[in-house]
Amino acid sequence: MNTALYYFSGTGNSLSVAQSLNTIIKESELYPIIGCLKHKPVQIKAQRVGIIFPIHFMTILRMGKKLITEINFQKPKMFL
Ligand SMILES: Cc1cc2nc3c(=O)[nH]c(=O)nc-3n(C[C@H](O)[C@H](O)[C@H](O)COP(=O)(O)O)c2cc1C
Repeated sequence: MNTALYYFSGTGNSLSVAQSLNTIIKESELYPIIGCLKHKPVQIKAQRVGIIFPIHFMTILRMGKKLITEINFQKPKMFL
C-alpha cells in the first residue's frame, strides 16, 4: 500500500516529522504542499494520504485547508 505524505514547514519541525514518517512508512513519498497547490485540483493516486503542517493560532493552516479542499482522490477507499 503506497502513501503520499504532504507537508508544509516554516522552521523545519513539520519537515522533520514528515521525514520520520517517510522513513517508518514503507512505500511512502514526500510532497511539499506549496508545489502541489500550483496544479489544481490536486490529483492523488496514492492509497493513503498524510498531511503534516504546524498549528498556527490554534487552528489548521490555511494552506492545509486549501489542500484538503483541492484533493481529488483517484482511488478512493475507506479504511476503518
Ligand atoms: C504565527 C505562529 C502561530 C502559532 N500558533 C500556535 C498555536 O496556536 N498553538 C501551538 O501549539 N503552536 C503554535 N505555533 C507554534 C508552531 O506550531 C510550532 O513552532 C511548530 O513546531 C512549527 O512547525 P514548523 O517548524 O514546521 O514550521 C505557532 C507558530 C507561529 C509561527
